[in-house]
Amino acid sequence: MFEQVKVHREVTGAGESLLLCGDGSAALEELKQYKGKVQCVYLDPPFMTGGKFTRRRRFGAKGWRTGSPAPVYPAYEDKFRSRDAYLAMLRGLVEQAHRLLKSTGVLCLHLDWRMAAYARLICDEVFGERRFVNEIIWSYESGGRAKKHFSRKHDVILLYARSAKYCFDITRVPLPRTGVRKNHMRRGVDEEGRSYRSIKSGGKTYRYYEDAPTYPGDVWTDISHLQQRDPERTGYATQKPLKLLDRLLRPLVQEGDLVCDLCCGSGTTLLAAQNLGCRFIGVDKSAEALLVARSRLKQENVTLLCPPVDQAAAVEATWEDGVLLLTDFRARHKAFPEAEQIFDRMESWAAGYMTENGMVALQHFQRSAKNPDLPLMSFLPELPGPLAVSTVDAAGRRRVYQWKE
Ligand SMILES: C[S@@+](CC[C@H](N)C(=O)[O-])C[C@H]1O[C@@H](n2cnc3c(N)ncnc32)[C@H](O)[C@@H]1O
Repeated sequence: MFEQVKVHREVTGAGESLLLCGDGSAALEELKQYKGKVQCVYLDPPFMTGGKFTRRRRFGAKGWRTGSPAPVYPAYEDKFRSRDAYLAMLRGLVEQAHRLLKSTGVLCLHLDWRMAAYARLICDEVFGERRFVNEIIWSYESGGRAKKHFSRKHDVILLYARSAKYCFDITRVPLPRTGVRKNHMRRGVDEEGRSYRSIKSGGKTYRYYEDAPTYPGDVWTDISHLQQRDPERTGYATQKPLKLLDRLLRPLVQEGDLVCDLCCGSGTTLLAAQNLGCRFIGVDKSAEALLVARSRLKQENVTLLCPPVDQAAAVEATWEDGVLLLTDFRARHKAFPEAEQIFDRMESWAAGYMTENGMVALQHFQRSAKNPDLPLMSFLPELPGPLAVSTVDAAGRRRVYQWKE
């Protein structure tokens, strides 16, 4: 039978990427070994909106198949005692980023109109004014329209380099050719047969080749916020679009680099990094955020450091000849809908064995829109330690169990 145990660490494969539950602005013991090793740190901290943010989680097989039921749970609060308290937290994050970055590395700090000006001064102090690289304006159309002022429809992303020899390759983000601006331009074809438009200005002739790639400037208007029904949505409020993170990371990192997000939320940065062949470190104060992030990522090479919840939930199983079959799962939450199937309250689970350092997960099963049903069987022949499973329930709470004969 299974007995619930308090195990923080869960490793898959070589465990090179890290998901860490903690305060990204604090001196975290687990981050010390990464000092000076990170190529890019992205920060999307609270913006000091004063708001409470939620997370919508689909419930059971039906929820994943049809989108309903999908109850709402609290995710995180963006409330601070004072502006000074907020800025102390922000400074802690920026200093942490500075410690982690390699000399070739870059910080991307994502904020909005509320705190961007203060953040600029903090970054000037911590990185040095000369290390300023960009102030990117991410402009979007979504949300309401203001009547008493112009609608505030952009975020600000500050880029600061760790040193003058930072890596940046703009050719990695070519934009689709939408054609050269045509107004007042003359059409021409050069000696090699390439067509262009040209314009004379100040006594000089400028040529714009129609097949030449173009690259983004510092105002981005071509990436929209995630729509309500966007398949990319995890239900985590304030989730950023993958396309935005891909555009940011691509010129800054190469395959094999280490990317860190100290407020990783639903893990958008980590997914973008994984898609680019990078390793990652994701930190978040909220255990639930971290588990949402984990559910989006490939699990071959990840260490999860995350406290399990204390509330009990029973897992029952049979384990014979290496075949582990889950037979029951009982977890309670006041916001759980009525379950249609016995395992609706389970969102994901992993099976493996226990070591002195935590659990080694050999298999990981996760519901998704493509695979709404959770497999309940795992084949685990000859384990080097006691059989162990970890579960995440439909409210995003993790528990770990060890097999006792
Ligand atoms: C704006 S959200 C990040 C969203 C994320 N970029 C995404 O795409 O899902 C901010 C996150 O910061 C976390 N957070 C707030 N303060 C933190 C701190 N001091 N250390 C680590 N995480 C923190 C919150 O729990 C929240 O998940």
